[in-house]
Amino acid sequence: MMAFSESVSFDSRLAPFDIAGSKAHAAMLAHVGLITAKERKAIHKGLDTVGADIAAGKFKWDAALEDVHMNIEQALTKIEPAAAKLHTARSRNDQVATDMRLFFKWACGEVDARLAEVQRALLGLAERDGHVMIPGYTHLQRAQPVQVAHHLAAYLEMFDRDRTRFADVADHANWCPLGAGALAGSTLPIDREFTAKELGFVDARGRPRVTQNSMDSVADRDVFVEFATACALVGTHFSRLAEDLILWSSSEFGYISLPDTFCTGSSLMPQKKNPDSCELLRGKAARLLGNLTTLLTLTKGLPLTYNRDLQEDKPPVFDSFDQTVMSLQVLAGTVAGSVIQPEACAKAVADPALLATDLADYLVERGVPFREAHHVVGAVVKLAETEATPLDKLPTDKVQKIHPKLGEDWAVVFDLKRAAARREGTGMPGPRQVKKQLARWRKRLAS
Ligand code: ARG
Repeated sequence: MMAFSESVSFDSRLAPFDIAGSKAHAAMLAHVGLITAKERKAIHKGLDTVGADIAAGKFKWDAALEDVHMNIEQALTKIEPAAAKLHTARSRNDQVATDMRLFFKWACGEVDARLAEVQRALLGLAERDGHVMIPGYTHLQRAQPVQVAHHLAAYLEMFDRDRTRFADVADHANWCPLGAGALAGSTLPIDREFTAKELGFVDARGRPRVTQNSMDSVADRDVFVEFATACALVGTHFSRLAEDLILWSSSEFGYISLPDTFCTGSSLMPQKKNPDSCELLRGKAARLLGNLTTLLTLTKGLPLTYNRDLQEDKPPVFDSFDQTVMSLQVLAGTVAGSVIQPEACAKAVADPALLATDLADYLVERGVPFREAHHVVGAVVKLAETEATPLDKLPTDKVQKIHPKLGEDWAVVFDLKRAAARREGTGMPGPRQVKKQLARWRKRLAS
């Protein structure tokens, strides 16, 4: 049962937050007169000593003491008798809820910094090689030409939304549950707002933010789910990017060369270079989705308030955090070391069929309704197929038989530069627009 019920093997990492919480709680107890200033001082000093031991790796964690909270309190009591008063008006239920909220506020900042690194790597690649044209795809079929930079900047958008999400999670975490006790607060004259302020649970104007229902305070795990959701969505995004990179680096595409340091060879086939980092990123995303599912399943049927099941809320959260941070670091390195291969890209984007839509637009500009224009171009494409001729090399007289509005200049549309230059609206892949977007990202990511 001891091995089964201990959590110190995974919650010991909460020690810095647990110590900060205890220091704030002791300060509050002194503030309201439940302990003396001398006792507060002694407790603070003792907590600093314990904290230093833990940081130095000298602390002996004991599974028999179950969790991080009991381990620290026990060690503190040994060096400081006043510590026997520390747990006044506190339960491990509101204590662990507080520790985790402090953890989330910190963790969201860490993930945000890693997301910014990935964004900088993407922007760097876009600025370096981004002018190269490739086919953009729908249904994994070549659709319309775009600059590599435009494709990469799609991920800049995704990761930026992720950053917003983590900022929201940090904001939702920013409510202090301490003082909720086991579930029904305390009969003692505690000052919850004081503790909240001490721990930095304050709004933009410095006013304390304390949770408003003691039962919800100890039972609520919404922020856990939100954090895991934000990680799962980051994973979904980096998994899609990884998949694009895997495709692009295959011989079939050949658009990109991935850095050797993030790839391996095959033990059997000497010619192979496997996109390991990208494949692992896809795999890690599965794990992040799994962690979210674990948390939702863990909480869905629980009666109020705290139930011991909730001890299992930490491994998925810590795993999501660790794997997200590591994945983002690996992704940043993979992207930063990648090189676009212009020849293969040029070959792929040379297919004039990619500009068939532009031919339909040509007809629209000459008064043909789009539905009809679409049909006409379909017939032109079909003719190119039966004649086994590239679309832009069809004889004009044959093309004009399909529709008289296809003038002598009908083939002007089959020019990548023209096609790009005509797409300068906001968010479109025109060269000036892409340049503008990259400049916006450069400014946003400067720090
Ligand atoms: N280790 C526990 C957890 O992580 C702390 C709270 C324990 N509370 C209790 N009433 N046993 O959930």
